[in-house]
Amino acid sequence: MLQLPVLNRAILAEPAFAAALTPDAKRGPALEKHADEVIDRLRTERRRRGVAAGGLTKLSVTLDDALRTEAVEHMDDPEFPERGKLAIAQGLHLLNTVTGSYGRLVSFVEPLLREIHARTGRPARVLELACGTGGFAVALAKAAKRRSLPVEVTGSDIVPLYVERAQTAAASSGLPLSFRRVDALDMRELEDGEYDVAFIAQSVHHFSPGQLARMIAECRRVATTAFVSVDGHRSVGMVGFVVGTAALAVWPAMVHDATISARRFYSAPELAAIARMGAPDGRVETGRVRPLLTTLTARFDGLAS
Ligand SMILES: C[S@@+](CC[C@H](N)C(=O)[O-])C[C@H]1O[C@@H](n2cnc3c(N)ncnc32)[C@H](O)[C@@H]1O
Repeated sequence: MLQLPVLNRAILAEPAFAAALTPDAKRGPALEKHADEVIDRLRTERRRRGVAAGGLTKLSVTLDDALRTEAVEHMDDPEFPERGKLAIAQGLHLLNTVTGSYGRLVSFVEPLLREIHARTGRPARVLELACGTGGFAVALAKAAKRRSLPVEVTGSDIVPLYVERAQTAAASSGLPLSFRRVDALDMRELEDGEYDVAFIAQSVHHFSPGQLARMIAECRRVATTAFVSVDGHRSVGMVGFVVGTAALAVWPAMVHDATISARRFYSAPELAAIARMGAPDGRVETGRVRPLLTTLTARFDGLAS
């Protein structure tokens, strides 16, 4: 109901929008401003047409608008203590484990990683951005060892405490795994082509459209092959599911962040539009890891650097 594919497709195909998404490679602050403006215009136009259409479409755009929020999660609040952030990240890790998310994510990225290994003859180098306490990076490294999948996994996050804890655990694990602190909004310290895949799980809703477009543009430089994101599927059912499962933790901070997350999830058409602005020459595709997640893949291989 909140994906509004027909309305989004119709608006994005119009010349003014199509032109805004085509290769006029903007970078840095100019790209951020451009992407914020385009997504804002898309949402305004969607609301206008949806209300005019009436019926279920009007109900969908009204609900989509009512749910959307700019509120800040504790995880992103510089004033919120690091230990509190760690507890929320650990809660999320538990939820990922209980719902079997890690296994599904590994299966989703495995074909791409095998393809990279077959093409290059070396392990596929994966940078996970915004990895929290590192649960997915560990799951991928373990699966790689079990399934003879040649990868080198680097988990990263902006919160030093997550990185320190994960680094300590990884050092004695014997897995092809390391951690480093990386700000996904400032990757200047990373070299061109240092990784093959930049992966980010359950986190793109933490960033504005402009920030996300900039992140993808930077990943186009840092990763040889692809930017891959998986995040919550924007739907009314997901809002209920995410808030309901967080409530089981009986902890207000977890419910607070879960509620904001579910309201901020991007729809697939918005993600695709943002990725086109961030990597105008990339091949962009959205999909699902059912039942909970929307995927976004921007492929950079085969392109001139
Ligand atoms: C919802 S958590 C997801 C954690 C993990 N990927 C998972 O699926 O459990 C969002 C993560 O984004 C991280 N984050 C927020 N802003 C960031 C930035 N600018 N650079 C890197 N990480 C960031 C937070 O510290 C947090 O760990």
